[in-house]
Amino acid sequence: MSTNEKQETAFQQTNKPKVDEKRFRLTDQHSGVEHEIDFLHGTVGPGALDFRNFYSQSKMFVYDPGFTSTASCRSEITFIDGDNGVLLHRGYSIEDLAMHGDYIDTCYLLLYGELPSQRAKDQFAYEIGHHTMLHDQLMTFFQGFLRGAHPMAIMVGVVGALSAFYHDTTDINDPQQCMAAAHRMIAKMPTIGAYAYKYSLGQQFMFPQNNLSYAENLLYMMFAVPSEDYVPNPVLAKAMDRILVLHADHEQNASTSTVRLAGSSGANPFACIAAGIASLWGPAHGGANEAVLSMLEEIGDVSRIPEFIDRARDKNDPFRLMGFGHRVYKHYDPRAKVMRDSCYEVLDELGIHDDPLLSIALELERIALEDEYFIEKKLYPNVDFYSGIILKAMGFPTNMFTVLFAIGRTVGWVAHWKEMISEPTIKIGRPRQLYIGHEPREFQLVDDREQSEHKKTDWKWFWS
Ligand code: CMC
Repeated sequence: MSTNEKQETAFQQTNKPKVDEKRFRLTDQHSGVEHEIDFLHGTVGPGALDFRNFYSQSKMFVYDPGFTSTASCRSEITFIDGDNGVLLHRGYSIEDLAMHGDYIDTCYLLLYGELPSQRAKDQFAYEIGHHTMLHDQLMTFFQGFLRGAHPMAIMVGVVGALSAFYHDTTDINDPQQCMAAAHRMIAKMPTIGAYAYKYSLGQQFMFPQNNLSYAENLLYMMFAVPSEDYVPNPVLAKAMDRILVLHADHEQNASTSTVRLAGSSGANPFACIAAGIASLWGPAHGGANEAVLSMLEEIGDVSRIPEFIDRARDKNDPFRLMGFGHRVYKHYDPRAKVMRDSCYEVLDELGIHDDPLLSIALELERIALEDEYFIEKKLYPNVDFYSGIILKAMGFPTNMFTVLFAIGRTVGWVAHWKEMISEPTIKIGRPRQLYIGHEPREFQLVDDREQSEHKKTDWKWFWS
């Protein structure tokens, strides 16, 4: 047995899910051929049918666009029970982590599987704290962007560029180098995010301070200026830390799956994280927090809420209530509850008692939770519904919201990348397709091709 095979066997023995062999039978009603399918048990939650060898036996694919019923991997990191609004990281509830732990605990837990002892936590925080600075040459990358560039565009570019700085020292087969890369990514993301913001303002970049916590440092790099002392407000720092905890991981969402897919080819991990940031940017994912604020501002007044609820219900109107609905949660998102409490704490601390956007948000939530359409479709507020209000009150501009999501989520991306490359055999992610195009046909020389004038000139022909 080769070393690889031995490792695979050892891995399978410790991590192998319980299998009910041939528990399911799929019969082709035309040919009468039967396929027997194993059933894999998860620790908790739904199990999965094992279709890994299905194609080789049947010459048929499984069709599931959007992966609504497909488990793309096995994972020990995060569990979600969407019907009951449960989110666990390594078995610990998100509420406990957010209320009794902090972001450093959460990062350590996601990466290494257990909560750290005080000593391990101090050492980990020291490690992260001592990798926050950027290479001087990397700082010049910011100058290449227009001042008005969206900070997520800057994040994609600069984080992607990190791969050039650490390519020769990031051998994905060397655990020590992987660990260093993981710590660097978690450490440098707040610095890059803060510099994207400072660059847009035309202000000096503020160097990270090792005497500050992760969240305090983030606030410092964002809001401090060289000419004044800046002492992070502990209530706001705590809220920032909690926001990071609440965004730290969410199992196989679009951006995490993107990171896994990119990483499955053995690509540089910094480049994979840049791919995750790109995926997060969309309004259906991390961009929703920005979209929530724009929506609340567009609604403008409580009296206009019914009009927007009607639009959300209208099948012919593409409008959706941002911050509502989730692929997995068919119940109140547990992160949204913590976020709502945090929102009150922050507004209280800042003396904001009659924020019109909060009033609109609360009324919108109340109406949506009572509305037949939202009840029937199980559309509840998600994590992004309240985060925008807190971040705005703290002084972040709207276009930085998704950057803060990316900073918090980096540890989740890294933990999943680590889990994937730690499998003894990495299988490149390669979905199949149901081909619905032309059957084979003969090539036509250009003079023989007939096309209607419509097809030649109408741009819609190319895109529709
Ligand atoms: N407003 C109005 N209708 C909605 C909404 C909404 N926010 N979300 C879903 N629906 C309707 C949708 O029209 C569909 O109706 P029908 O069954 O009649 O076709 C039904 O509910 C199911 O929606 P779906 O789009 O098939 O569900 P999905 O699981 O593919 O989409 C979602 C999930 C989050 C993309 C979607 O709910 C949405 O676009 N929400 C608004 C954007 C948002 O808040 N995103 C943040 C997600 S949480 C942060 C994160 O993890 O990234």
